[in-house]
Amino acid sequence: MRRSLVVGNWKMNGNRGKSLGLLGDILAGLGEGAKADVGVCPPFVYLPEVGEALTGSSVLLGSQNVADQDEGAFTGEVSALMLKEFGCQLAIVGHSERRLIYGESSALVAARYAKALQHGLIPILCIGETLEERESERTFDVVGEQLDAVLHTAGVASLAKAVIAYEPVWAIGTGRTASTEQAQEVHSWIRARIAKLDANISESLQILYGGSVKPDNAAALFSMPDIDGGLIGGASLDANSFLKICHSA
Ligand code: PGA
Repeated sequence: MRRSLVVGNWKMNGNRGKSLGLLGDILAGLGEGAKADVGVCPPFVYLPEVGEALTGSSVLLGSQNVADQDEGAFTGEVSALMLKEFGCQLAIVGHSERRLIYGESSALVAARYAKALQHGLIPILCIGETLEERESERTFDVVGEQLDAVLHTAGVASLAKAVIAYEPVWAIGTGRTASTEQAQEVHSWIRARIAKLDANISESLQILYGGSVKPDNAAALFSMPDIDGGLIGGASLDANSFLKICHSA
């Protein structure tokens, strides 16, 4: 039985005070014995303080990206080793905003993924198609290519210590969620593709859905057999909404 995981991706929102306030409200509302594992990914600069505030809690700390190198002349990058120093456990890689706005290729994403794993961070590998790709029936080609880049670099065994997030680009921040059937179709396709390489890893792999998950659609999405939780953007910035989503998982 796979555990559910719900991760808040705060993106480039808030400020110091708001980040700590949001976290405080989340911790107060989560209570004991939540069924799902929960994580938060604040902007890099707030990781130390958010990490400190998480001391003693089971909420996981994650970064929104991670460098493909350990150290050196890589202006603007933050390495897995640095993130580990501040207690990070998760690292989002390949978010569509990184791929599409900042031009990160699948090869670069795979290198970031491999670095996260090498230093003991759990990568959350984001994959997903644009609206144009879906409408031209290329969803599985695109998602397959994004997945294969990582499999070629790090091998299928790496997925034993990783999480995948299927995030259709057309559903991110648009209020337009994939239907439960649309999401389940892609999740089961991803799982089947991995099962061809390693059935055990495929069976235990957590595949999250992301893209306009809200309190009113979370339970239905999470009830699908191959959806193991969510990567939550906008709704993770409001403690009540995020808590409702966590409690639906
Ligand atoms: P959204 O973002 O929930 O605001 O659609 C999801 C994501 O980008 O991870």
